[in-house]
Amino acid sequence: MKYDFTYYNPTKIHFGKDALNKLAGELAAYGENVLLVYGKGSVKRTGIYDKVVKILADANKRVTELEGIKPNPSYSQVLEGARLVRENKVDLILAVGGGSVIDCAKGISVSAYCDGDPWTKYWINFEDVTGTIVPVGSVLTMAGTGSEMNGGSVITNEDVMLKNGRVFPSSVYPKFSILDPEFTYTVPKYQMISGIFDTMSHLMEQYFSGDDDNVTDYLLEGLMRSLIVSARKACDNPTDYEARSNIMWAATLGLNTLTGVSKTQDWEVHMIEHQVGAYTDCAHGAALGVISVPYYKYIYKYGVQKFKRFAENVFDIDTAGMSDDEAALKGIDALGAFIKELGIPENLRALGVTEDMLKPIADSAVTGGGYYKMEAEDILKVLKAAF
Ligand code: NZQ
Ligand code: ZN
Repeated sequence: MKYDFTYYNPTKIHFGKDALNKLAGELAAYGENVLLVYGKGSVKRTGIYDKVVKILADANKRVTELEGIKPNPSYSQVLEGARLVRENKVDLILAVGGGSVIDCAKGISVSAYCDGDPWTKYWINFEDVTGTIVPVGSVLTMAGTGSEMNGGSVITNEDVMLKNGRVFPSSVYPKFSILDPEFTYTVPKYQMISGIFDTMSHLMEQYFSGDDDNVTDYLLEGLMRSLIVSARKACDNPTDYEARSNIMWAATLGLNTLTGVSKTQDWEVHMIEHQVGAYTDCAHGAALGVISVPYYKYIYKYGVQKFKRFAENVFDIDTAGMSDDEAALKGIDALGAFIKELGIPENLRALGVTEDMLKPIADSAVTGGGYYKMEAEDILKVLKAAF
């Protein structure tokens, strides 16, 4: 490993069947006022809402609710939550849902007592957090983002057509997260595969950068291999507990900063997706699946040895007798076949992208890059290939 690092992750995870039984014990550490944040109704249909509300009532909590958090949560919902926190002197924000709900809860946490305009301060200028941070806890109902054990908060500001993510410091991570793989059984197939590919993409964004002999790259390969095996099983049988639990834990590990330790990283696929999402409101992981192969075909030459290693170690391709380029491309083809097998849409048009969106998306998606620094004209070429 080349780089010095400090690794710290303060989120306590309760994992497994009946993990929700641990919620009461966690609640005891906080005051009586709870803001319960959830999405557009899945938690009510699945009965998770009733269970959580009963635990809150038994713990004598005074509960204020913020419901209807959108997939791709909006900044206006963050502000609404911040107002509720101030008005009700909230002691704990309890997020019950997927990444969108948890991301929104973190946004609310830092915005409630922010001195200044939170959007500009946190999601444009990426300033340090000042003011009181309201603690967040989560009950995760869908696997994919890793938000349950990290500081990520991706918020869409519809007024300016920007979906911006930032990573808050460990003081903003959920204090605890409850992960019961059975809660994910009801996630619709399209959302399940989107979550699976989101995790795959997190692993690849961290993997495809750097050329040192790094223990983290071996961890990433192991997680990718496990995810591929479990994804196939979960697609065949969505109530395969072992597969769903492996996917859930791989998703958490995939973006809880452990798999980024001492690594340079890429994140260009995510940067492009976030802008596709800002324009279309599509499912995050599905768009990552559409963008990945055209992007990796565009940049693989700049990191060809790593792409060859990916072919060999993640997809078990025998590269004997192949040139480095051929081996690398075989790995990317195998990734493409896996994406197809999952059932991810074939192109950006299927996600609602129209031709006039391509240039503005490209212009707003430039970031640091991994093996190759993509400029807007490079991104436009990738978008056209994915269109
Ligand atoms: O809104 P409800 O009714 O709850 O339905 C949700 C939503 O429609 C549904 N769902 C969730 N759990 C369910 C369920 N339906 C049935 N049964 C259940 N148990 O699934 C749909 C998608 O939920 P959402 O939370 O939007 O999905 P996901 O977890 O994929 O989160 C996506 C958001 O996270 C951001 C994405 O950009 C996107 O905005 N990300 C956050 C990251 C982070 N915090 O580190 C990193 C990621 O790269 C990502 O950018
Ligand atoms: Zn993601």
